[in-house]
Amino acid sequence: MTDFQKAIPLDNLRDGIPQSVILPDDRRVCLVRVGDRVFAVDDRCSHADFPMADGEMVDDFVVECALHGAQFDVRTGEVLEPPADEPLPIFEVKVDGGTVWVGGTAP
Ligand code: FES
Repeated sequence: MTDFQKAIPLDNLRDGIPQSVILPDDRRVCLVRVGDRVFAVDDRCSHADFPMADGEMVDDFVVECALHGAQFDVRTGEVLEPPADEPLPIFEVKVDGGTVWVGGTAP
């Protein structure tokens, strides 16, 4: 069973603006709100560990790393543009009672 950690009130997430959140288990995740859906990816770019939340959304589900421009699909973690060649870890998300919860466990 997935262990969900309390992340942030949904109202604190702005549509299309990546946001870094530290979970109670010390994982740092990058949350992305797209309309009424929320996605969570590792906040460290798979290319050189730069914070993904410092990047920006360049399409509905595409986040671009601010350091070297790698792009990832926030739904799957898939690399869409180099120089990254490893996907971003993604985490399950649920929204309950106006709060965003993130699943998975710390590595
Ligand atoms: S650190 Fe993200 S593209 Fe290089």
